[in-house]
Amino acid sequence: MVSMTVGVRPQAAQDGRLSASPNSITHLLSMRDVDRGTLDSILGKAERGLMDMGNGAFARPLRNKRLAKLFYEPSTRTTTTFEVAMVELGGTVVGFSDAKTTSAMKGESLEDAVRFYSGLSDVIVLRHPEVGAGERAAAVSKVPVINAGDGPGEHPTQAALDLFTMKREVGRVDGLRIAMVGDLKNGRTVHSLLYALSMYEGNHVVLIAPEQFRMPPAAVEEVVGMGLRVSHASELDAAIGADVIYQTRIQQERPGVESGQLTHLGRGAYIESLKIDRAFLDRAGTEVKVMHPGPRNGEISTEIDGDPRLVCFEQWTTYAVAARKAILEIVLRDGVGRNGTALREPGASKGDGGGAPMARRAATDD
Ligand code: NCD
Repeated sequence: MVSMTVGVRPQAAQDGRLSASPNSITHLLSMRDVDRGTLDSILGKAERGLMDMGNGAFARPLRNKRLAKLFYEPSTRTTTTFEVAMVELGGTVVGFSDAKTTSAMKGESLEDAVRFYSGLSDVIVLRHPEVGAGERAAAVSKVPVINAGDGPGEHPTQAALDLFTMKREVGRVDGLRIAMVGDLKNGRTVHSLLYALSMYEGNHVVLIAPEQFRMPPAAVEEVVGMGLRVSHASELDAAIGADVIYQTRIQQERPGVESGQLTHLGRGAYIESLKIDRAFLDRAGTEVKVMHPGPRNGEISTEIDGDPRLVCFEQWTTYAVAARKAILEIVLRDGVGRNGTALREPGASKGDGGGAPMARRAATDD
């Protein structure tokens, strides 16, 4: 393993980097849109949400709001947990999970679909195969756009729920050693998570991938510049000693992956070499937590299902819903509503309307 850099962490950013579009709507397109204060707010709100659920308290703060889901790529977890989150907050959901059933098949552009849905909804949750699709949507949307995965780009809400899983399962999101394993080049969850981890002090990320699936160097350079400690390795054994192992699948749907990038390695051999099974887990220690954004595709053996060190089932469900509820509440609070108009509850204080970046709004929350 080659240790790259131990940087000096600058003061945590509190400058509100959430994307404020020209028409002053706050979007969540990248983890770079979120500052430390906002992430802390999401984690705190998600925690309180879990406690409230445990106590049988069901507040419905988004009961007059509508979420539009526009999923141009397959999804099981993200679409379902966004839907559960919105419904539990009292809101409703429209949209599609399969673009083949929509006017996209008649040649409708992403922009026109967004124009249509933003006239009927309070927030758009978008998944699309193209990097930067969120920015395209935000440029024409009258309501906040949440990027739920743009090709091999980013998946910021997944990073938030991944951090929440670490907080719940390990007890903290700083001072951690995290091994990220697998297709770090094409996997969007690891891109957002790397950036999120760089906002907390003392984290050390070990990137474990064969040469052809390495994390993009520009992303590594950026987080090292923010003070994150990053190491590179190609053997799974480099994950031994980690507090968290974040396993990922080969992104075989990305152009060139199946045909080109695995030719000299072989898919089966690749998966076997990085597979987390009972024998490996027992060498990795009693305290380690194994996560995976899902879906798994052979990289985590089913023989460890039920082992308390494998926490992905909670990550995919309870923690995902709690984190996405927190995000929806923060994005939709202060009444950014349909057509960009304020939809405040009667008697609610005026606040700063929909114009303030999410980070600044969230900073007053917790
Ligand atoms: C991930 C995604 O779509 O990027 N899944 C998810 O959202 N939970 C990871 C993956 O598909 O490998």
